[in-house]
Amino acid sequence: MLVLRTYDQVSAALADERLIVPPPPERDSALGWLRSAVCRFSSGAAHARRRALVDAPLRALSPDALRRSARGRAPETAAVEVLAEALGVAVEPALVVAAARAYLPPVEPTPADDAAVAALLAALGGVRDEPTAARACLLLQACASTAGLIRNALPYKDFGEPEAVLVETLRHSPPIPVLRRQRPDGALVELDLVAANRDPEVFADPDTFDVHRASNKRHLTFGVGLRPCPGDSHALAIAAGVLEGSSR
Ligand code: HEM
Repeated sequence: MLVLRTYDQVSAALADERLIVPPPPERDSALGWLRSAVCRFSSGAAHARRRALVDAPLRALSPDALRRSARGRAPETAAVEVLAEALGVAVEPALVVAAARAYLPPVEPTPADDAAVAALLAALGGVRDEPTAARACLLLQACASTAGLIRNALPYKDFGEPEAVLVETLRHSPPIPVLRRQRPDGALVELDLVAANRDPEVFADPDTFDVHRASNKRHLTFGVGLRPCPGDSHALAIAAGVLEGSSR
């Protein structure tokens, strides 16, 4: 598989309309349906329509309120608990954690993963339509990635203010290490975010965790280009709240 590692190569690939998110393997199950109905794996007009269904509720949330709500919560479930409350959906955090396990390829789903997604969809009302898929997508996208950010940031929590620690953690130790794209000829391309975030052309002394580096906000961990993460400020607010809570 072609692997892109430099900052410029990865940024260019994320802005290249010829490269699509690889369509997940077809699966006759709740997980298969969910993946077929969310923006995360869609392209073109379907992506734009489904993206609007996640952007609108996120815009209505206040990062400051999410941050306050996250204080004192456990790193693994903070994002799901805070977002579910803010979005007004009643779901057990453990159910979202279970459903998230195999949501992102290339993890091979088991029947238990399919059952967890079916239970999540049932908890969200059971209707198989795009608004329901969008609510599930928000919780699943937020779940493991934000927990990973908090986990990776905790060893550095005394290096500075939460914002500075978190942004350098995103650069130095991204919770999502690779993204994938598919070329028009079907070939897969891997985008190595760890390598790109440590490209010495952009980040001097890249292996050092330095909360004061001027360029640390240029990390690619939330994506860039055509489909960047719409939950970046929400993830940062929730993670900052958990870090603050853990210091007291
Ligand atoms: C530290 C935490 C997070 C990281 C590192 C992260 C990273 C990313 C990245 C890199 C993508 C783009 C994937 C690609 O281009 O292939 C993405 C997409 C997405 N993220 Fe996040 N994310 C995080 C938290 C969140 C949160 C908290 C939410 C919701 C509240 C969220 C919602 C989404 C959605 C809906 C998409 C799909 C966007 C689209 O396909 O247009 N993410 N995320």
